[in-house]
Amino acid sequence: MRNDKNKSFMNGKFKNTISGCLLLIISFFYCKESKPHVFSKGLMPIKWEGNLESSKDCGVCHKEIYAEWETTRHKVAFTNELYRESHEREPLTWCVNCHAPMMKANGDLEKIEDRVFKEEGISCIVCHKRGDKILTARIPSKPQEHKYIEVKEMRRSEFCENCHQFNFPVGTGNVPHKNFKYSAQPMQNTFTEWQMSYFYGKETCQDCHMKPKDGYKTHSFPGGHNRDYLENTFSVNLEKISNSDVKLTVTAKRLGHAFPTGDLFRTLIIKLLDKKNQEIKRIVLRYEYDEVESNRNSETLSAKRLRERNIITPPVAREDAYYIKNISLSNSDMERIDSYELSMNYINESNKLFSSVEDNTSKLVFKFQKLPPMNTDGHR
Ligand code: HEC
Ligand code: HEC
Ligand code: HEC
Ligand code: HEC
Ligand code: HEC
Repeated sequence: MRNDKNKSFMNGKFKNTISGCLLLIISFFYCKESKPHVFSKGLMPIKWEGNLESSKDCGVCHKEIYAEWETTRHKVAFTNELYRESHEREPLTWCVNCHAPMMKANGDLEKIEDRVFKEEGISCIVCHKRGDKILTARIPSKPQEHKYIEVKEMRRSEFCENCHQFNFPVGTGNVPHKNFKYSAQPMQNTFTEWQMSYFYGKETCQDCHMKPKDGYKTHSFPGGHNRDYLENTFSVNLEKISNSDVKLTVTAKRLGHAFPTGDLFRTLIIKLLDKKNQEIKRIVLRYEYDEVESNRNSETLSAKRLRERNIITPPVAREDAYYIKNISLSNSDMERIDSYELSMNYINESNKLFSSVEDNTSKLVFKFQKLPPMNTDGHR
């Protein structure tokens, strides 16, 4: 009725423009107020206005944080070999919006040259500076050095979600095309996994990946490339349960989500070895996707479809997560088992998994441990 009345003096197109503008204005103010960081999950880069400051400039005063950040994957997000190679194969602007998000204010979205400090990947300014203001979780009581914007979200997992949770684009989607859309198929699911875990409402991404030290939050962001953090997290136990089966238990201490998580090619490999380090059995934990050619031009569906998910699921009832699997082995193999080796693999090579080529960029062996001899009565 009201609509009918409106129709008489306002044609549909005009109305759409007005409501579209209103929506834009409202969302502009909403974003300015509650999301001054303007992260957009890869839809847009961050336009840089004001003085250009390299992370090195911040490092003059924030020495420890700078030294920590220098060791991170955040720093090499645009320059590391794994990214460079995969971006060469899929040279999308979409990728750059997350891996090197800072762009000249009047730059061209699609020109790599218009990105600033791309060699610093996720730099200090990506997370901390807009215009001449520093984004901080809480404004210091006597601010002297900087002007600040308080961003409470920086203390919450939602801040990380801005880049660590997103779906496959539809078809072969790329921004800035106007029909770029995300499909319903998660590509990186870390935030959702955290929400499903024991730690939801208890500990945030920051609590585990930015542990406090000497009164400040550390910035080394340990993850799937950090040998020490990996080594301390994972351990393996074997138990004979019959003449043909052993029970494998992988324990992940204080895991805040699934593992592997994040990048779709991440793989955790468990090898059972004999005294001469010869492989007896290999267990591969990863996501497996099928290419769906018929979805290449789809406007709603992803060209990748999840086939299998053999991973450590997030802990639900307590802090630690367990992966349990019964493995068939001959009696002699059981007796030969002497040790286990854990390694990460960062590239998609499911059909080459049994090759003996070991390469430092694509693999990281992070743990090797002797196992007690396998008792014939089933106890170790
Ligand atoms: C000349 C030294 C200096 C430089 C350069 C500097 N800072 Fe600071 N920063 C400080 C001091 C001192 C404080 C303590 C609070 C204050 O005085 O405002 C601080 C506070 C901060 C805080 C808030 C800390 C808190 O207590 O919550 C953040 C975040 C921050 N700086 C980030 C940066 C970033 C990012 C850069 C580079 C773009 C940078 N700073 C460059 C000296 C510096
Ligand atoms: C991936 C995003 C990210 C990057 C990159 C990053 N920071 Fe931070 N930083 C944060 C978050 C989130 C906090 C707030 C943690 C909290 O309070 O829970 C923080 C806190 C800080 C603080 C306050 C520390 C404290 O606990 O008092 C300073 C100072 C700071 N960062 C400086 C820097 C500098 C300098 C760099 C670059 C060398 C940098 N940050 C890079 C996300 C980041
Ligand atoms: C309770 C602690 C905890 C919480 C909370 C947590 N993590 Fe983790 N995270 C871990 C552990 C443990 C690992 C595995 C050890 C490693 O990768 O070195 C890990 C690994 C990762 C990895 C590497 C994964 C891989 O497969 O290589 C990423 C990325 C990551 N976390 C991001 C996040 C994000 C984003 C959040 C918040 C949504 C988060 N984490 C919350 C403990 C936690
Ligand atoms: C602007 C986007 C962005 C934000 C915000 C961000 N990250 Fe990241 N993060 C990345 C990218 C991109 C990488 C992967 C870089 C690479 O290896 O190519 C990464 C890597 C990591 C890794 C290392 C994973 C590994 O496998 O080694 C951890 C851990 C991590 N981020 C945690 C966090 C946490 C915790 C937060 C929130 C405080 C956060 N990140 C915020 C983009 C972001
Ligand atoms: C919405 C943000 C976002 C977009 C878009 C994005 N990435 Fe990432 N990428 C990340 C984050 C966050 C990680 C870290 C997760 C982890 O370490 O497991 C990552 C990790 C990676 C890694 C693993 C690097 C390593 O150190 O092991 C590669 C390779 C990669 N991305 C390539 C790409 C390519 C190629 C594209 C475009 C086709 C792309 N990414 C698009 C956020 C993004």
